[in-house]
Amino acid sequence: MVAPDSREPVDFSHDDTISVHGGRPPRVPDGPINQPIVASSTLHAGGPFGYHREYNETLNALENVIGQLEGGTAVTFSSGMAAANAVFDLFAPQSVIVASKFSYTGVSVRLRELADAHRITLRLVDITDMDAMREAIHRDGITASWVWIESPTNPMIEIGDIRATAAMCHEVGARLVVDNTFMTPVRQKPLALGAHVVMHSVTKGLSGHSDLLMGALVTADHELAEEFLMRRVLLGAVPSAFDGFLALRGIRTLNVRIDRAEHNAQILAERLQDHPCVRVVHYPGLPGHKNAQVAKDQTSGPGTVLSFETIGGPEDAQRVCESVTLMSHATSLGGVETLIERRRRWPAENPEISETLIRLSCGIENVEDLWADLRAALDLLLR
Ligand SMILES: Cc1ncc(COP(=O)(O)O)c(C=O)c1O
Repeated sequence: MVAPDSREPVDFSHDDTISVHGGRPPRVPDGPINQPIVASSTLHAGGPFGYHREYNETLNALENVIGQLEGGTAVTFSSGMAAANAVFDLFAPQSVIVASKFSYTGVSVRLRELADAHRITLRLVDITDMDAMREAIHRDGITASWVWIESPTNPMIEIGDIRATAAMCHEVGARLVVDNTFMTPVRQKPLALGAHVVMHSVTKGLSGHSDLLMGALVTADHELAEEFLMRRVLLGAVPSAFDGFLALRGIRTLNVRIDRAEHNAQILAERLQDHPCVRVVHYPGLPGHKNAQVAKDQTSGPGTVLSFETIGGPEDAQRVCESVTLMSHATSLGGVETLIERRRRWPAENPEISETLIRLSCGIENVEDLWADLRAALDLLLR
């Protein structure tokens, strides 16, 4: 047998290749091509870690992929909320925090709890209004220490200008965290736009199959990454190796899933806009979206989640969600299956959100089947 020429490995940098090939074990004869599930709470002494809360080989492989995709060092947590709370744990007493008026409910509620307990001063802001953002970051001579935004916001699908917000934060020494759950790194890279930290609910699009809970924080600041790891160690919010394996397996198909789900979202958004029972559709892929241009400038696509408001009252919107037969009437987003829900069914949801607002997380099914299902559910309101 002729020995193959020995070659330097290809130096890959494209997201679709990183998703597939990042975090693989070394290529040794008869070694596995997939990262095994390393189920071991403790590790042999002599290394820098020693225990699963600090280091696990399966989680490390996943963190390598997420880190490469976002352009920083990733630390995983047992849920998106655990990752968010690891950041909140770094807020100095009485510090000023600026956050989006519309954020994921859990984040909003937790920030309000911290403010009500006088541990932070919370300034809520419309993240699409850059004058309001500047004013909130520096008000009455007191500067914010952290700014927390989502873009798009959940569930209003508003778009904040990440580059401009990051520039304002850099001017005054505030740290910007961007929850990138909705877009995933294959559509938006907040660190490259100037953010200090990216937060993910890995539960959603990154893992993509609605079969685990996980969170991640990513930063290019080495000291901050160390602090995040210490939060995981001390707060104990560490994922299991099995969930690490599932998330890594999900990430392998990230690009093709997002391409397909986004294609479906665009078509459904356009058709919803023309349906007589729909008042308004919120989706940055529609030219009429308030911040469509900002979205175009900072993302490589409009994403897989949209929301829309129906005619009539809450009971009509609820009826639509309860009448679908192919889509699932369920919360969450980013999975291969399409999910639909009326957000105000949750008592903790922001009361400024319309009672008839429905969030639609588009999956990868055939779009004609999805539309047939949704149109039939909406048509019930015509009777
Ligand atoms: C945008 C966003 N951020 C954070 C979270 C919280 O993530 P987890 O459910 O993994 O704790 C969610 C959950 O829905 C979310 O939608």
